[in-house]
Amino acid sequence: MIHYLTMNALTVKDVTKTYATGTQALKGVSFEVPEGDFFALLGPNGAGKTTIIGVVTGLVNKTSGSVSVFEYNTDKDTELAKAQIGLVGQEVNFNPFEKPFDIVVNQGGYYGIPRSKAMPRAKQLLEDLGLGEKMYQSALTLSGGMKRRLMIARALIHEPRFLILDEPTAGVDVELRRGMWDYLRKLTKDGVTILLTTHYLEESEQLSKHVAIINKGQIVASGTMDEILAMHDDKEAAKDGYRGGRLEEVFIKLTSEK
Ligand SMILES: Nc1ncnc2c1ncn2[C@@H]1O[C@H](COP(=O)(O)OP(=O)(O)OP(=O)(O)O)[C@@H](O)[C@H]1O
Ligand SMILES: [Mg+2]
Repeated sequence: MIHYLTMNALTVKDVTKTYATGTQALKGVSFEVPEGDFFALLGPNGAGKTTIIGVVTGLVNKTSGSVSVFEYNTDKDTELAKAQIGLVGQEVNFNPFEKPFDIVVNQGGYYGIPRSKAMPRAKQLLEDLGLGEKMYQSALTLSGGMKRRLMIARALIHEPRFLILDEPTAGVDVELRRGMWDYLRKLTKDGVTILLTTHYLEESEQLSKHVAIINKGQIVASGTMDEILAMHDDKEAAKDGYRGGRLEEVFIKLTSEK
């Protein structure tokens, strides 16, 4: 038998995080994201999703455990691990008085990309993301959905192998959401690994390869989308009047108070 070795884009092992306030945001979290995956990290508000992303990207200091991004351990090869990642954070965090084009080009500077190389790439990214007409206007003039797309362009300027998006489609209308999911799917076809969080379970059900569901700082389920959907119980779902998609029913079952 031929054995193919596949690398993980992300390996999270026994990670805990207790914030200075005493909040135990992560209580021993382990999961893996295979290279090339379209991975959804799902969970209710306050479950610990943004904290995990913070730990992986070096914005939050973990309390214990280990994280590797491809072959780089985030404690030992911190800068190399970070360089593999493009991050679209949950909060809009660019300077609104700058122009989208400059925001994206300047981000390239943080990764040592010369302006001569960053400029055509920024233009291409902004055009691909539908911001061609806005790129030389102040970012103040962008709508909410445009700001999200600007953050995606910025996250891609250094051609990361691994793109992490924390609720990229929050507040984005249905048509634009489809466009964004399409764009992300194309990126995975080009070999980019994607991890995202979202509260749009129906869309996630259709697009994600692997899923982890987190609740109160602990992973309560993880596997392929088909494995998670197999946890669905048809009879149980019919009890109340409202019926969501299968992923939604599994999610509710695993994350609601008993
Ligand atoms: N900087 C912080 N200091 C103290 N507690 C924090 C901090 N950031 C987050 N927390 C707490 O850690 C827990 C997990 O928060 P986190 O932001 O990771 O959740 P989340 O899953 O991203 O939620 P949401 O879906 O609302 O974005 C929550 O109880 C939150 O109040
Ligand atoms: Mg969050």
